[in-house]
Amino acid sequence: MTFPPIKLTKHVFFVGVKDPDLRVFDIIMETKFGTTYNAYLVKGSEKAALIDAAKADFTEEHIARIEAIMPIEKIDYLILNHTEPDHSGSAKKLLEINPNMTIVASAPGLSNLKAILNQAFPSLRATNELVLPLGGAELRFFIQPNLHWPDTIFTYLPQDQVLFTCDFFGAHYGLTGLYPHDFPSEADFTSSLEHYFVSIMAPFKVDVQRALDLIDTLDVKLVATSHGAIIDEAHVDKVKRYYREWSQPHPKHSIPLVVIPIASAYGYTAKIADKVEEGLKQAYSGAINVEKYDVVTTSLERIVERIGEADAFLIGSTTILKDTVKPIWDILSSLNPEIHGRKKASAFGSYGWSGEAVNHIIERLKQLKMQTIEGLRIRFNPSNDEQDQAVAFGRSFAEFLKNND
Ligand code: FEO
Repeated sequence: MTFPPIKLTKHVFFVGVKDPDLRVFDIIMETKFGTTYNAYLVKGSEKAALIDAAKADFTEEHIARIEAIMPIEKIDYLILNHTEPDHSGSAKKLLEINPNMTIVASAPGLSNLKAILNQAFPSLRATNELVLPLGGAELRFFIQPNLHWPDTIFTYLPQDQVLFTCDFFGAHYGLTGLYPHDFPSEADFTSSLEHYFVSIMAPFKVDVQRALDLIDTLDVKLVATSHGAIIDEAHVDKVKRYYREWSQPHPKHSIPLVVIPIASAYGYTAKIADKVEEGLKQAYSGAINVEKYDVVTTSLERIVERIGEADAFLIGSTTILKDTVKPIWDILSSLNPEIHGRKKASAFGSYGWSGEAVNHIIERLKQLKMQTIEGLRIRFNPSNDEQDQAVAFGRSFAEFLKNND
């Protein structure tokens, strides 16, 4: 054990583990300061509860840290605010040591855990009404789904004014210390917090706002998260303000924005794009913003960011080897139904002989839960008639966009 358990408040000890060398979290997220799997032991005069567990690879260290305070066999509850295996991995060993320990989680959490552990265990379903007295301290629960899984709950210890939120307010940091002031700088803390928010919480902005409304009703001196910084009293209001700001919905545009990424080998698809734009502008009498991006010269991040902002988007693509091309697949694989779904979208493109790209793109748009209309395919260089078809396609898409169904 590299460091002893740390007493945080009258009843709460830190019994988590550090993973300072981790550089990629959950496959997609860079963690330049590593991370932690925070876990807490809450000791009352009569009972004890563990809040959150640790990733399976760190079970031994996690257990040693708990046992420096008390035997696992004497712990009454394991509360899992969220059952993703970075917080439930050590539960199997904890139950092996103490099969009588009651696992407290939401209904979806208990269901997940059955499928993770593949064994029976004593359980108690957390509800907003449940109170667990520990002797001089009690735990209360708040069902807070989608932060970021359907199973999420918050646990609250009113006597110490500690709120245990698991991933909510997380900021990966696995180096020395446990608090925001331990980051190399305040700016590093803020950017880590934002990186975490964007990667994990951003798809669930409505749920984030609901959770912030709840937190506003509680006396909270410490937010005991599951990754990196524990949010101390000096930072609670600041972090709440950041989350409020970042979870605001995009402001509605005064006029619609349509984004058109284009993959055009010889300029034919780009020519169609110009005519589609003309049709869009005709239908809106010019009161529409159309942004076209060449996928070869524009960064993927920029295009995905603009699609995120847009009311609708159209993808223009040539066909090469019976498919669309990698930069278009990169865009399509960077979108997801949670964040971008329900946008209006379609595709068009020039082709030489088979022309599969447009239909493949539309299939993917449907998987992404976009609202689509049939695409437009034109062989080689659009003739005057075909350019008129492209203008008509733009007008049709505009009518589709105007329809609020
Ligand atoms: Fe840190 Fe969603 O687990």
